[in-house]
Amino acid sequence: MKNKLLIIGASGHGKVVADIALKMNKWASIAFLDDDTSFKSSMGIEVIGKSAEAFTHINGYDIFVGIGNNSTREKIQKKLEAEGASIPSLIHPSAVIGEQVELASGTVVMAGVVVNCCTTIGKGCIINTGATIDHDNTIEDFVHISPGAHLAGTVKVGHGSWLGIGSIVSNNLNIIKACRIGAGAVVIKDITESGIYVGVPARRVSNGKDSNIGK
Ligand SMILES: CC(C)(COP(=O)(O)OP(=O)(O)OC[C@H]1O[C@@H](n2cnc3c(N)ncnc32)[C@H](O)[C@@H]1OP(=O)(O)O)[C@@H](O)C(=O)NCCC(=O)NCCS
Repeated sequence: MKNKLLIIGASGHGKVVADIALKMNKWASIAFLDDDTSFKSSMGIEVIGKSAEAFTHINGYDIFVGIGNNSTREKIQKKLEAEGASIPSLIHPSAVIGEQVELASGTVVMAGVVVNCCTTIGKGCIINTGATIDHDNTIEDFVHISPGAHLAGTVKVGHGSWLGIGSIVSNNLNIIKACRIGAGAVVIKDITESGIYVGVPARRVSNGKDSNIGK
């Protein structure tokens, strides 16, 4: 761990990430990188350059990708990993994390989240405000669990999937990789085909190829 933190992305998601990092009180200073050169600072935190400059800061900073889009976050985190960057995980002090929970690098756990025991959360995930993930879940890499989503026990969510705000997943279910589950959807059976699912119970409305939302 380094004593300075660099966050890539200074807009909405990046600001929440910075807020959590400030509350963790582990870094002497925090700075942003952002490709929008009109950003000079965000939340009073200085934007010191563009995202590609991250690679010149690897020796001096822990680096965190504060970008909400799953596939963009994955691409950048993988390049940083290949260059040997130190990538922390960030956990808001109000989150409740059970025993034997594993959280990998680049994952952020936001305010009011509960992750119950024996759950594994992969790299580069977003566990957003007030979500709950119960016991024995497996959340694969670069997944986003949106605010207020609730996952019952022994759920598996595949690589890069995105569960919308307020969605619910019943117990013992698997959701395959690269799915988008709409706001308020209720998943009551395994999802075995990638795509966009909405409604109660959740049904597939598209293969997701024409939509960029949440990818
Ligand atoms: C599911 C979602 C990704 C689909 O987005 P999209 O690809 O642009 O799809 P569209 O808006 O074209 O909707 C496709 C159809 O599904 C319906 N639909 C979309 N989202 C829905 C939802 N959450 N619940 C029920 N129906 C929904 C639309 O009404 C439309 O139906 P129609 O074809 O009969 O008119 C999006 O609507 C959604 O729910 N996003 C969640 C946002 C969120 O959680 N944000 C939190 C970020 S932290």
